[in-house]
Amino acid sequence: MARHLITSALPYINGIKHLGNLIGSQLPSDVYARYLRARGHEVLLICATDEHGTPAELAAAKAGQPVDEFCTAMWQTQKDIADGFRLSFDHFGRSSSERNHALTQHFAGKLADAGLIEEVMEKQVYSNADGRYLPDRYIEGTCPNCGYDKARGDQCENCTKQLDPVDLIEPRSAISGSTDLEVRETKHLYLRQSKMRAQLSDWIDAQSDWPILTTSIARKWLNDGDGLQDRGITRDLDWGVPVKRGADDWPGMDGKVFYVWFDAPIEYIAATAEWADATGQDDTAWQRWWREDMGADDVHYTQFMAKDNIPFHTLSFPVTLMGSNEPWKLVNYIKGFNWLNYEGGKFSTSQGRGIFMNEALEILPSDYWRWWLVSNAPEGDDANFTWEGFQGGVNKDLADVLGNFVSRVTKFCRSKFGEVVPQGGAYGPAEEAVVAEITKRLETYQAHMDAIELRKATAELRAIWVAGNEYLQAAEPWAVFKTDPERSAAIVRFALNLIALYGVLARPFVPDASDTILTAMNAGEAKWPEDVAEALHSLPAGHAFTVPDVLFAKISDEDREALAARFAGK
Ligand code: 2FM
Ligand code: ZN
Repeated sequence: MARHLITSALPYINGIKHLGNLIGSQLPSDVYARYLRARGHEVLLICATDEHGTPAELAAAKAGQPVDEFCTAMWQTQKDIADGFRLSFDHFGRSSSERNHALTQHFAGKLADAGLIEEVMEKQVYSNADGRYLPDRYIEGTCPNCGYDKARGDQCENCTKQLDPVDLIEPRSAISGSTDLEVRETKHLYLRQSKMRAQLSDWIDAQSDWPILTTSIARKWLNDGDGLQDRGITRDLDWGVPVKRGADDWPGMDGKVFYVWFDAPIEYIAATAEWADATGQDDTAWQRWWREDMGADDVHYTQFMAKDNIPFHTLSFPVTLMGSNEPWKLVNYIKGFNWLNYEGGKFSTSQGRGIFMNEALEILPSDYWRWWLVSNAPEGDDANFTWEGFQGGVNKDLADVLGNFVSRVTKFCRSKFGEVVPQGGAYGPAEEAVVAEITKRLETYQAHMDAIELRKATAELRAIWVAGNEYLQAAEPWAVFKTDPERSAAIVRFALNLIALYGVLARPFVPDASDTILTAMNAGEAKWPEDVAEALHSLPAGHAFTVPDVLFAKISDEDREALAARFAGK
């Protein structure tokens, strides 16, 4: 038994996330956590909303709400949806929490003490009409390179040229459209990441087991001249963590906040402290997960995220932790994901293209989505959601293979032997062969889960379900019943035990169906099998069960077409 700390990248607060976001971190983190818990490990799974930054302010303005109220409401919405998807977070925190304010200010103070923070005077665009400084990407104008009239202050989307806001011809505020802009001097804090290059490089070199996606992105940024440039960690915004040096004011930094990407990863720690607070524990409860001097040295820490987040987690956040000169827990393994596309194009929040998490739950129960998303996760490469693929995966894997097995066996048993496990004779060679096959496949399944190769794990799990179907097909208890009811009873007893086993093994992916199965089988707190042969004796003759309702309904062609049309986007 080990101790596993698991974090999912924090979803932005600015709106409801789509299925691409879900499979990029939250869902796989939950699958992994459920698996490790089932194997008897001590697990702490942490997530939170990422609440600061200009996008949050703009989303609140669009909703006509003060930003703090907007965030509170959207946090609740995101939390309810996470619950709807059965994401088993031990805590779903908020980066705007008191805990995160204090910890973020604490880290800034420690980094300053270590000589890693520099004060810099900067020129920034101020919009008189908006009454605020404008981040580069909220300044629009004509591209000096190609003439595109909606170029952003950081980059021209049309010709991809990197720009400075001052390069733009006829610049205007992207928020109000106002051209009443001026350049003002303002002081900011820079984190001197470049001073930590050698230490970071050694640390990354030591991660021999990290996936290539993670290390290649980390190395690219580390070795690329620009990658580890010192970066501004403060902003002229109202909403965020006020700049302080520990508990003290920071001279000249009044009215400024930390940059959202500085405080967001610190929320992994703060959310753990929020969890301790919420569960009535003291500080040692969260510190034993995060402080090497408080017992975290034997914690195994895994982070889940989409690939665009990897630089922040392999470079910036480690700089914060290492640079503090305090014994904070560093990540042991980073699981990164590629993109999930929607019908060959991008999911797009702004264009309403693709499926959002709340919409998905209105259409079908969470298990359907969970199974399809994980069994098609963008692990090795980008993946593509199509309604046809979704229909095929649900109908074949869930309805035809798992659901059908459960239904056939339980209904046949009820009709011939009643709703109790029948006695019958001993298991014979056919059953032994299934035990041997499942034993082997279970080892492979576990190995994939341990390695967080989730697609491969689902393929193996499916093969375990198929093994049961093939056994049933060959053993034919319905035919055998006519001549040898004893043998038929033994087959049914074995098959009922397979159902209970499937309930346990499927739980990381389809937790609701698992619960339905285990409740119907009256299997109590069924444990992860240590020995397959033994597990297939766990429901003894005479054990009562009930026939569950249909586990998975098939998606018809008409339904599929209607859904595809509804979600085609504007
Ligand atoms: O990319 C994103 O969605 C960010 N909100 C992820 C933040 S992860 C962590 F660092 F907080
Ligand atoms: Zn251009």
